[in-house]
Amino acid sequence: MTKIAIGSDHGGFNLKGKIIKYLEEKGYEVKDYGTYSTDSCDYPVYAKAVAKSVANGENEKGIIVCGSGIGVSIAANKVKGVRAALCHESHSAMLSRLHNNANVLCLGERITGESLALDIVDVWLKSEYEGGRHQRRIDMLDED
Ligand code: RB5
Repeated sequence: MTKIAIGSDHGGFNLKGKIIKYLEEKGYEVKDYGTYSTDSCDYPVYAKAVAKSVANGENEKGIIVCGSGIGVSIAANKVKGVRAALCHESHSAMLSRLHNNANVLCLGERITGESLALDIVDVWLKSEYEGGRHQRRIDMLDED
């Protein structure tokens, strides 16, 4: 089963908990990189911890939540080898896997309701990278 890293700041803490429960019920192995309360904190800390664990192979995929999803997506995409996709609906989540081989999913708790967020997670985890013509473009992402 896929090993999934998950993290959030205070703005994504509640949705993070719901995603963890949802994934564990489905049998995924989930590692929580924090934060562990709704106390105010800094999203780059948690986004980079998740992103680095995906980049170094400790986890296959990562999911990061903040209030908007924007901060964590910017932070995660600073880590070489990470392709983080901020998704507000399920179709983009599917395309981010098929075409971009996204290895990190970003969500905004203040933007996306729980039910839609869980569907996005589900679709994202089930969708497989298509490879082929997309690989050349993905290889270019990590070039200097
Ligand atoms: C925290 O208030 C908020 O700025 C953060 O969760 C996130 O939305 C940043 O992009």
